[in-house]
Amino acid sequence: MLPEQVRIYEVGPRDGLQNEATPISTTDKVAFIGLLRAAGLRDIEATSFVSPKQIPQLADADELMRHLTAERDPQMRYPVLVPNERGLHRAIAAGATALAVFTAASDEFTKRNIGMTTDESLAAFAPVLRRATEMGWWRRAYVSTAFGCPFTGHVDVAKVVDVALRLDDLGVDEICIGDTIGVGVPSQVHDITANLVGAGIPITNIAYHFHDTRGTALANVLAGLEDGITCFDASTGGTGGCPYAPGAAGNLATEDLVYLLDGLGIAHGVDLAGVIKAARFAAAALNKPLTSKVGQAGGWDSATGARLLPQA
Ligand code: HMG
Ligand code: MG
Repeated sequence: MLPEQVRIYEVGPRDGLQNEATPISTTDKVAFIGLLRAAGLRDIEATSFVSPKQIPQLADADELMRHLTAERDPQMRYPVLVPNERGLHRAIAAGATALAVFTAASDEFTKRNIGMTTDESLAAFAPVLRRATEMGWWRRAYVSTAFGCPFTGHVDVAKVVDVALRLDDLGVDEICIGDTIGVGVPSQVHDITANLVGAGIPITNIAYHFHDTRGTALANVLAGLEDGITCFDASTGGTGGCPYAPGAAGNLATEDLVYLLDGLGIAHGVDLAGVIKAARFAAAALNKPLTSKVGQAGGWDSATGARLLPQA
C-alpha cells in the first residue's frame, strides 16, 4: 500500500541553481523562493554555505538567508548545505535554523566534492551536528552516489548503509539517499530501503533524491512509495546537477513529481499550477527553455480533457 501523504523537499534554489552558469541575482532568488512558497512548498533548501570559489552561483548565501529568515514564517523550513564549521558559523550568523550536511558512499566522489574522504567528512560533521543539535536545528544528511559513482562505478549497498548508520549516530532528523548522477533503477531503491530499514533506520527518517539523467527518477519515486518512503526531493523546473559529478543532469522536476502524486491520490499540499509558474520564472531567469515534461505539457483536467496551464 502506498503512503497517504508525503513531503516534497524542494531543492531548486540550491541544487537546481548551483551548477548554472548564468548568474541569478539575490532578488530573483528571493522571488523564485516566494513563488515556491506560494505553491505550497514548505521545505525549501535555499542555498549552501560552501566556498564561493567552488560554487559562485551561491556566493550570496549570507544575504539570501538574511532575506528569508527575516520572514519568520513558522510554516517554512529553509535548510542550507553546510560542509564544515566555517559554513555553520556563516549559517548561524545569517539566521538559519535547519541544515544539511553532505557526504557520499564513494570516497573518490567525496574527495572531489568536498576535499575529504568519507571518513574525514564524518569527523568534520560531528562538531557541526553537535552544535546544530544544541541549537535545536532540524538536521538532514545526504549520502550521495548511493546508486553509482561517476569515478569508481558500482557502489555496494553495504557501504550506503554503513555511511547512513554513522550519520544517524551523529544525530540527524533525516537521511537523504542521493542518486547523484541518475543511474539508479527501482530494484536498487527497494534494495537500499530494505537494507537501511533492516539496519534500524526508521522508514520515516529516509528521503530519496533522484536526478533524472536517464529518465528513471519517477520510476524510482514509485519504488520508494511502494517501500513506504514519505519524503522525496525535487527541483522546480527540473534544473540541477553537481559540478563535481560529470554527467549529472537535472533533478527530478517538482512539477513532474506533483503530477504523479496527484494522479496517485497521495496528499502533499503543493499546487501544480503554482509550481509551473515558479518553473517558468526560473527558466526565464536562466534564459533557458523549460525542459520538464509537465512544465511543458501542463496538468490535465480529467473532467474536460483540457490541458491545465497557469495564466502567463
Ligand atoms: P577545501 O578547498 O577542500 O578546503 O574546501 P579548505 O578548508 O582548504 O578551503 C579552501 C578555501 O575555501 C579557503 O579559502 C577557505 O577559507 C574557504 P581561500 O583561502 O582559498 O580563499 N572555505 C570556505 N568559504 C566559505 N564557506 C565555507 C568554507 N570552507 C572553506 N564553508 C569545501 C572544502 C567543502 C569548502 C569546498 O570543497 C567546497 O566548497 N566544495 C563545494 C561542495 C558543493 O557545494 N558541492 C555541491 C553540493 S553536493 C550535491 O550537489 C549532491 C547533493 O545534491 C545530493 C546528490 O545529488 O546526491 C547534495
Ligand atoms: Mg543533487
